[in-house]
Amino acid sequence: MLKNENNLFWFVPTPIDISRKLSKELSINLLIKRDDLFFQTGGGSKSRKILYILQKAYNEGYNAIVTAGSSQSNHVRATALFAAKLGWKSTMIIHDKKPNGSFEGNLKIVSLTGSEIQFVDKDEVKDAMDHAMLDFKQRGYKPLYIWGGGHCLEGSYAYFDAFRELKEQLGNLNPEYIVLASGTGTTQAGLEIGVRHFSPKCKVLGVSISRTEKKGKEAIIGSMHTLNDFLQNLIELPNDIFFDDRWIGDGYEATYPEMLETIHWAAKTEGLILDPTYTGKAFYALKKYTETGVIPKGAIVVFWHTGGLLNLLSSKEI
Ligand SMILES: Cc1ncc(COP(=O)(O)O)c(C=O)c1O
Repeated sequence: MLKNENNLFWFVPTPIDISRKLSKELSINLLIKRDDLFFQTGGGSKSRKILYILQKAYNEGYNAIVTAGSSQSNHVRATALFAAKLGWKSTMIIHDKKPNGSFEGNLKIVSLTGSEIQFVDKDEVKDAMDHAMLDFKQRGYKPLYIWGGGHCLEGSYAYFDAFRELKEQLGNLNPEYIVLASGTGTTQAGLEIGVRHFSPKCKVLGVSISRTEKKGKEAIIGSMHTLNDFLQNLIELPNDIFFDDRWIGDGYEATYPEMLETIHWAAKTEGLILDPTYTGKAFYALKKYTETGVIPKGAIVVFWHTGGLLNLLSSKEI
């Protein structure tokens, strides 16, 4: 008998890892929130977000999905896996060239699920998604249109709830800093509201993986407004947040030697596995913050591990 019959999935909190060796090296108290182990193959923040999106869709009678992303999109992989679990049809619009030879990483998993994959140019994404939606409707389905990256209210609500989960796990221990990789900003927006409500002295340090400071902050603050409206003005919204674009290198999926060295170092020091697209950049920034005093010595820091194992395994850079 399931715990809660109205819930699609049996929800299990992700573990918190105490990182003793890296704590010593960085002169802080480092905890790792292991969302990379979220209960789905490949795990990560995108799995947590899509679960909330699909729970709502299920309650509203949807039975098919159309979404989009790059070949190594964690969002697309997480969506395809849960769609297969639910027995829903899904179409994935991939704005990349079809790889020569066999598929790797996230794309390999997506193709295993039987989801329909269409490769298009970036400027064709909208038309392709509209077309896939129409096609499902004509075949009698009720398809859900999900923005790339799972950027929506349910996505940021998932991370408001995730901070509550962390708080419950930590009990009287109060984190002082949360460091995470920030892309569309949905994850950061949810954490910002959760932190401000449950742990107001804590600071969220969002590390951009591709966006400029201006664009990133606009997106996050926009999502915070939407979530806070939904939560009936739970918090007083800030005018500014921390979103740091100094560690993006040449942009999305671009790597640079210091970041790759940090990935090797974290793995050798304590078996912490990071990836070159997301968490490697965030952890490199964390290291720099401890060296430059942005994070003071002895601080209690939670590194929110948002996943990325399949990005590591499909990378040619490391
Ligand atoms: C592993 C991983 N970490 C972080 C992010 C960034 O999350 P968000 O788009 O919510 O900012 C992503 C987004 O693709 C991701 O896949």
